[in-house]
Amino acid sequence: MMLLLVVITIILGCTVNASPRHIRQIDSTNVVSVTRFAKYDVVVTHTRLGDCSYKIEFIRADTTTSVLAQDIIIHWAIDDSVYLLEVPVVTGSTTIEAGKQSAEILWTPPNGFVPPYDVTGVTQITNDEGGTVDQHQIDDGVCTPGSTRGDPHMRSFDGHGYSFQGLCWYTLAKHCTENPDFEVTAEFAPRPSSGDELKTRAVRLNVTVGDERLSMDTTNEVLVNDVPLWAAKLNGSPVNFEIITDPAMVGVKIERFNMDILWEGRKHAFSAVVSHPDYHGNICGLLGNADGDPLNDFQKPDGTRTTHVNEFGESWKVNEKTCEY
Ligand SMILES: *[C@@H]1O[C@H](CO)[C@@H](O)[C@H](O)[C@H]1NC(C)=O
Repeated sequence: MMLLLVVITIILGCTVNASPRHIRQIDSTNVVSVTRFAKYDVVVTHTRLGDCSYKIEFIRADTTTSVLAQDIIIHWAIDDSVYLLEVPVVTGSTTIEAGKQSAEILWTPPNGFVPPYDVTGVTQITNDEGGTVDQHQIDDGVCTPGSTRGDPHMRSFDGHGYSFQGLCWYTLAKHCTENPDFEVTAEFAPRPSSGDELKTRAVRLNVTVGDERLSMDTTNEVLVNDVPLWAAKLNGSPVNFEIITDPAMVGVKIERFNMDILWEGRKHAFSAVVSHPDYHGNICGLLGNADGDPLNDFQKPDGTRTTHVNEFGESWKVNEKTCEY
């Protein structure tokens, strides 16, 4: 069994702790009581999204075909520390349907939860058959997203909230140097029928790393250097981004910056988190400098600060771009 797990781990390239420090015993008052044995174990992987929620995937570890016609019910538990006994725990159930290899849940850490988080649990086929959910640690560091949503409400990486009605292209966040490692820009367009007052919202998001530029629109279609994502993939690009898409959102991960971006085009909503220490205080744009202090976020490209929202906002306009409205 161990060998099988190792093989699966390598194939999936996921991080399963080979020697778990601690296996939490799920209290049988919390969960249906199941006799556990290795037969129907599942392994766990996760992806952090730009709004600090997680896509957690439970993957069958067995290759037994005789149970393909049965669902595997997963009773999972997520807690915020392996060291303390008195810790918050969130529990729930989900099902890997008969014939499927995996199931996924979306999980947002409740208020008060502190990383790392541990996922464990038991699986159940019948009342007395099941297995265990291999312990998996979620440890992507503290997560404080910067975001823009609605018409548009900005929230800097340091938690400063403000509204700014920009029109056309603006820099949301970039590495603050002459040759930035990354740059995130957004196009803001007028909302239809917003009366006298101009209200705008984000309609396109571009993320540039090296010579690759992703661009996504309100239908969540992704372009890589102007080519549709599916076509780009045929040529082995993009290399700097891991992308997950579904009709409701685009999740982008940039592994080497520990950066996660979530774009929900239909909602005109963007959020992102950058945890890599190299960028602490080293980010520029409408979402502030990410140094932990919400009071110094209104810094203009020339390095001076202002207290005026519009002066700050307009200073981050992408000057070489024009828009037709
Ligand atoms: C964003 O990407 C789109 C599509 O690739 C491109 O037309 C547009 O000029 C880009 N905007 C900026 C500010 O780079």
